[in-house]
Amino acid sequence: MDIIDGKELARQIRQQIKKEVETFSRPPGLAVILVGDDPASQVYVKNKTNACVEVGFYSDQIHKSSNITQEELLSEIKRLNENKIIDGILVQLPLPEHINEKAIIEAIIPEKDVDGFSSENIGKLMQNKSFIRPCTPKGIMNMLSTIDIDLNGKDCVVIGASNIVGRPMAMELLNAGATVTICHKLTKNITAKTNNADVVIAAAGVGNLVKKDWVKQNSVVIDVGINRMDDGKIVGDVDFESVKDKVSAISPVPGGVGPMTIATLLENTVIAYKSRV
Ligand code: GUN
Repeated sequence: MDIIDGKELARQIRQQIKKEVETFSRPPGLAVILVGDDPASQVYVKNKTNACVEVGFYSDQIHKSSNITQEELLSEIKRLNENKIIDGILVQLPLPEHINEKAIIEAIIPEKDVDGFSSENIGKLMQNKSFIRPCTPKGIMNMLSTIDIDLNGKDCVVIGASNIVGRPMAMELLNAGATVTICHKLTKNITAKTNNADVVIAAAGVGNLVKKDWVKQNSVVIDVGINRMDDGKIVGDVDFESVKDKVSAISPVPGGVGPMTIATLLENTVIAYKSRV
């Protein structure tokens, strides 16, 4: 059984990017906007900023109060769209209820949309001619490329249909030649689907959801979950101990998908930078 070491793979990617950045005429610039004080978002934004600094990017961390208006946030994005030393703009999600998330995402020009969430970038992913691809699914494809699996014709099940992970993940797997099933809250008899899957991507946001009896012998399981349980412990969407002896490869939490999302954000910022210099 392989434990897919996302932490190590992410370290290698950062090292490579750092070397490449040293050859650039100016550092790639990434602006990360955090609205409000959600503790989990604060941690994610801090990790993103630290990674930027490590690889030699210019990092602009912008913290706004949760009562910022939509107009104020839009004008902040407009300012960053026009800023020549900023190559990537990321607005940490979720946003407060009074702000229209879709309007904010669409305000970022596609060339600087390093999350790959804009209609233009998602549309390109749908057509398999991508420019910037959403970080978590792209990072997972990179993880899958490190194990011995040919996705052509494989049966893949994605649990979760979010815009950030589930939907773009399904499209990545389709683009790689897999047959894809997307499961969500209304799906009947999920285990009948996961039991037939060669690959399961768990992105439901439910701690320890996937158990041994959910997965097929020798399948591959990727865990996207970061769930804080009542006792304060962080667990994935997969019950790792229950599943690990049945599968051929599994990603752990922590040290799996999380660090790869951030390393992929750096890769996307380099792509945005190169399209602009
Ligand atoms: N919130 C959770 N994941 C993400 C992500 O990948 N990008 C942004 N902007 N917000 C998130």
